[in-house]
Amino acid sequence: MERRKFDVAIIGAGGAGMRAALQLSSGGYNVAVLSKVFPTRSHTVAAQGGITAALGNVTEDNWLWHMYDTVKGSDYLGDQDAIEYLCRMGPQAVYEMEHFGLPFSRLENGKIYQRPFGGQSRNFGGEQATRTCAAADRTGHAMLHTLYQRNIQAKTHFFVEYMAIDLVRDGEGRVLGVVAFDMEKGEPLLIEARATLLATGGAGRIFQASTNAFINTGDGLGMASRSGIPLEDMEFWQFHPTGVQGAGVLISEGVRGEGGYLVNGNGERFMERYAPHAKDLAGRDVVARAIALEIHEGRGCGEARDHVLLKLDHIGREKIMARLPGIREISINFAHVDPLEAPIPVVPTVHYMMGGIPAHYRGQVVVPARTGPEEAVQGLYAIGECACVSVHGANRLGGNSLLDLLVFGRAAADHIVEFLKENPASPPIPADGTDLARSRLARWERRQGSERVADIYRDMQRIMQAHCGVFRKAEVLEQGLVKLEEVRRRLDDAAISDHSKVYNTARIEALELENLMEVAFATIRSALARRESRGAHARDDYPERNDKSWLKHTLVHRDGTIDYKPVRLKPLTVPSFPPKTRSY
Ligand code: FUM
Repeated sequence: MERRKFDVAIIGAGGAGMRAALQLSSGGYNVAVLSKVFPTRSHTVAAQGGITAALGNVTEDNWLWHMYDTVKGSDYLGDQDAIEYLCRMGPQAVYEMEHFGLPFSRLENGKIYQRPFGGQSRNFGGEQATRTCAAADRTGHAMLHTLYQRNIQAKTHFFVEYMAIDLVRDGEGRVLGVVAFDMEKGEPLLIEARATLLATGGAGRIFQASTNAFINTGDGLGMASRSGIPLEDMEFWQFHPTGVQGAGVLISEGVRGEGGYLVNGNGERFMERYAPHAKDLAGRDVVARAIALEIHEGRGCGEARDHVLLKLDHIGREKIMARLPGIREISINFAHVDPLEAPIPVVPTVHYMMGGIPAHYRGQVVVPARTGPEEAVQGLYAIGECACVSVHGANRLGGNSLLDLLVFGRAAADHIVEFLKENPASPPIPADGTDLARSRLARWERRQGSERVADIYRDMQRIMQAHCGVFRKAEVLEQGLVKLEEVRRRLDDAAISDHSKVYNTARIEALELENLMEVAFATIRSALARRESRGAHARDDYPERNDKSWLKHTLVHRDGTIDYKPVRLKPLTVPSFPPKTRSY
């Protein structure tokens, strides 16, 4: 197998991977970034509404208020040390991006434009805050292009159209790099690295309707799981309240931040009933559940009463064209509605994975230790959506994910620098170090079989959508698990009918589907095990939050066994926010 050697291998060229790469390359390290797509097509490019940080440019603000909102938004499952770090570092992370050249929208006084987003408050639960820093409604696009250009300047080495297959570990459990797959040539490549950073993004493609790109197939989670690392809090999936009905494309929360609101089939602003104070800007889980209930109880819109409407024409042409031009385009193209004139049909749509690879807030992957509570996997880091730090707990606040990418991208890079200084030489790759990857690649090289990978893929998505949606209950989850097992068995009889090596998309789809399967099983097993309702995990059969039994993180292993670990309620330097009833 061809080999290349780097100080650091970063898997994924989204906001998190590129922020970390920039920090390391600028510091003179030799950094490889692997990406399945051209870097500026990574899914961060689709982020719309903005980066949340307490700059206080529009209304008075304080990072502690941001911290309070994030802890409350997480339904108290977030680790408060990590949340403190996120919110305290927020303004610095945004100013760094401003100095790198991110073209933020501007206020009259020249400062960075900020808009209100859901779950934001002033003074610990008071009036609505205005905290999300935006480049119109294309903030992720602006961020990704800025980071890419800076990385080119810093001489980061990009491997474009390379899919990571599996981690390389030695007998002591150290991670020594990764085996990747050159998607163009169909050849493997061993990347040896003193540190490996997983930044592979989400896995929303386990569901049928998702705002996620086709590339979001949980590759990092699959790799971690196959190498023996349990996955954390996988029952928590965010349904964004406003995906275009039938298309799944995101309509930013920024629309409601700019004054848009939801109406049901009776023309009623129903959020006033569910969240009398925050209304349409309540936490995402609250708004998504409210929409699902309105539809379920027959108050949806349209002939089939299967969606609600997002009204924004009253905002006015000038504001829509300046602040929400991309939303107008998306609406015209995907909903066939010009929002200057008519409301957009929307439904809750899978958007974000709160769980992931268990990671410390400085990026190290941490696993339950044989002797103590937790230990770091030497040489392995995870950041961004693929990681569970956990700052989002059971429900993420809008705008906190772009912030998460920047803050933890830099924090992981800074920790990697310390690690590299302490570990100047790379341990040798053992003879069997690449076996796992080799066997997966061999499995999907040429195959006879009676099943199409694409059919199995689609059936998995249908099962997850039907059995693990906004509202869950034991019986439905159990049936889903049985069906998922049947579907996984069908993979053994899947064919790769295209025998060519070059751009063999069937082979790539099969490799991705294996990763998605890891995520789907972890999700449904964790959801079945958690017998309470918290944040985005709503159980009809256990409708209340139960702090006495369930204020803890789930760790699901590949063999289906589940462990739990405590929530870190103690922040780094400030007093804790103890759990209390959550209302908006
Ligand atoms: O609604 C949005 O613009 C999405 C933002 C986010 O998920 O953070």
